[in-house]
Amino acid sequence: MSKKILLGVTGSIAAYKALDLTRLLRQDGHDVQMVATKNALRFLPRLTAEVFTGHPLYSDMFDPACSVRHIDLARECDALLVAPASADFLSKMALGLADDLLSTLCLAATCPVLVAPAMEENMYLHPAIREHRKTLTARGVYEIAPETGPLASGKEGLGRLASMEAIRKALDICLTRNGRWSGIRVLVSAGPTHEPIDPVRFIGNRSSGKMGYALATACASRGAHVTLVSGPTALSPPAGVDIRQVTSAQELENSINQAFPDHDICFMAAAVSDYRLTLPHPEKRKKDGNSWTLTLEENPDILAGLSRLKAPDQFLVGFAAESKLDHKKLLDKLRKKGADMLLANNISQPGIGFSSDENEITMLLPDGSSLCMGKHPKAVLANKILDEVEKVWRFPPRSRQ
Ligand SMILES: Cc1cc2nc3c(=O)[nH]c(=O)nc-3n(C[C@H](O)[C@H](O)[C@H](O)COP(=O)(O)O)c2cc1C
Repeated sequence: MSKKILLGVTGSIAAYKALDLTRLLRQDGHDVQMVATKNALRFLPRLTAEVFTGHPLYSDMFDPACSVRHIDLARECDALLVAPASADFLSKMALGLADDLLSTLCLAATCPVLVAPAMEENMYLHPAIREHRKTLTARGVYEIAPETGPLASGKEGLGRLASMEAIRKALDICLTRNGRWSGIRVLVSAGPTHEPIDPVRFIGNRSSGKMGYALATACASRGAHVTLVSGPTALSPPAGVDIRQVTSAQELENSINQAFPDHDICFMAAAVSDYRLTLPHPEKRKKDGNSWTLTLEENPDILAGLSRLKAPDQFLVGFAAESKLDHKKLLDKLRKKGADMLLANNISQPGIGFSSDENEITMLLPDGSSLCMGKHPKAVLANKILDEVEKVWRFPPRSRQ
């Protein structure tokens, strides 16, 4: 599949990686044109970039060659990928500024726009940049999340440009967007929650988050805009997904409830703790030779709460972790919670379920019908689940975006 990619390069120390990226994208058969900010050219040799792309490198909007081409460049490309994207450039995009060629192209482009940030961790996590990234993802810009690793400053941290493979994968997702999931906004919760006992201890569970992450990935691959609300996991954020990290059940509930009205479908795959401490200790409790009794109270039922908020065209999918699959009890649960589909995980056998790569899922619908999807890797099951959703849900004609 040969596509026209406009590669925007900004003033990050990682700008040289745009050359490697160009080589890989051209190997995939794509035609790559490069547009660099003035500051990117302090890091990127123009001649090398032109040899790598086989095209002139555009930078100055008032250069006669660019001033004529700039709207054409935006109109002709199949995807606009800014990699690396500096903190400055992300802010500019979020604010809709257009004071150079690349930022003007970002406003003029009607194709999918992707950004791969690269910067120091403090910059990436600064509230201003967080806010701008949030604005961009809410607008449908795909953020290819940076990685944790050695940074230019010599420190370790979050902010390294995503791997070439992750960028390539995200681009593939955007370029193949079509069909029924295109533009659909999907909300997925994943992973365990941690309920604090004191500042160092918590109550958790063995959920790895793999099922929710697999669903988020499968939805993004089908062209949906995905928001993933994740409890603490050891997994890397899937490419092209807007991720929101939470810790406790209350944080997860707040994040999900806030996001739900803007989404068409919600998969509640997180293993939310049923209980939390009534009064977490403000300081670490030290050993004092006495036993310790913890008083727990129930956490709210997030799924049941969502069903009360649900609009008629929204679709709500719940999960249940069951040691024994009792069809009648599961059906009662589904109806009581007001979900449109219940997916029961079998956690009775070793090697499947919570922390493993495989799962065994039975799907139930409110009309009492059920389907045993069998035992499969979670990525395979995620796609089987989406196939079933496609059969029973009347997709909204337009996304809620
Ligand atoms: C050596 C050096 C390395 C830099 N690396 C980064 C970086 O990795 N990420 C970033 O956001 N800014 C980085 N900056 C700062 C940007 O170059 C600066 O914010 C600039 O205004 C960005 O311009 P642009 O967004 O128009 O390309 C670096 C600056 C210097 C001098």
